[in-house]
Amino acid sequence: MLLVKLGGSILTDKARLRTPRKTAIARLTKELAGLGDDLLVVHGAGSFGHVLARRYALNGPAKSTKAKGAAVVQRDVRTLDAFVIDGLLKAGLAPVVLPPSAVLGLDDGRVVSFDVAAFRDYIYQGFTPVTFGDVVRDRTRGVAVCSGDILMLELAKAFHPRSVVFAADVDGLFTADPKRTRDAQLLLSVGPADLAQLDLGPAKGADVTGGIETKVRRMLEIASFADETIIVNGNVKNRVRDALRGRIVIGTRVVGGH
Ligand code: IPE
Repeated sequence: MLLVKLGGSILTDKARLRTPRKTAIARLTKELAGLGDDLLVVHGAGSFGHVLARRYALNGPAKSTKAKGAAVVQRDVRTLDAFVIDGLLKAGLAPVVLPPSAVLGLDDGRVVSFDVAAFRDYIYQGFTPVTFGDVVRDRTRGVAVCSGDILMLELAKAFHPRSVVFAADVDGLFTADPKRTRDAQLLLSVGPADLAQLDLGPAKGADVTGGIETKVRRMLEIASFADETIIVNGNVKNRVRDALRGRIVIGTRVVGGH
């Protein structure tokens, strides 16, 4: 089993509301075909999710007014998902959409229900399940944001994939933000003991699903359920494909406490 997350920052222009990067989507979906193993695809929301989720405070406390904002964002993330599905179909795969708003429930941000059987049954029938960062029901908050990373963890727990690949818009994890710090160094691997040496600044821009620290902690947990976990640059042609094929590629290996 292979598990991949296509980050919202490669699928969209994160600074402009609802702006897909169509060329990147077409290329990346093509890279996911012909891998010779079952595949689960998760993708981020980028500017189809973060901008309005923040404006409507969808991660905040329960309020009767949240439903309408949630419905708009749910519609928007499905719009982005349709571009991904289109690419996967053109690449010759049989994608099936399993929207978190239908298959997952939270309580104060923590997962309390997840329909793993839907994923398992479709895989068995030769489909490629696709899911994404979404707005879902939450027992405490009414609705809340469910990031693609939360789905990665649930799927890793359920399927113990051979390989997990996170496609980011940089080469991997750096000692500091490579877009702001010139001498930021790429980390070839990261484990639980390395958390302290990272400059885990606050999330920049409109990211509503937590900063880098939440992300790295979750990746370490995901890695503990997989044989190999790596963060690679999805903007570099064939890097995601090669990582999924088990080739040695530039990136950051995530080593969880097995
Ligand atoms: C965010 O999902 C979901 C919403 C804001 C609705 P992700 O956190 O997985 O998305 P990216 O990869 O950062 O864009």
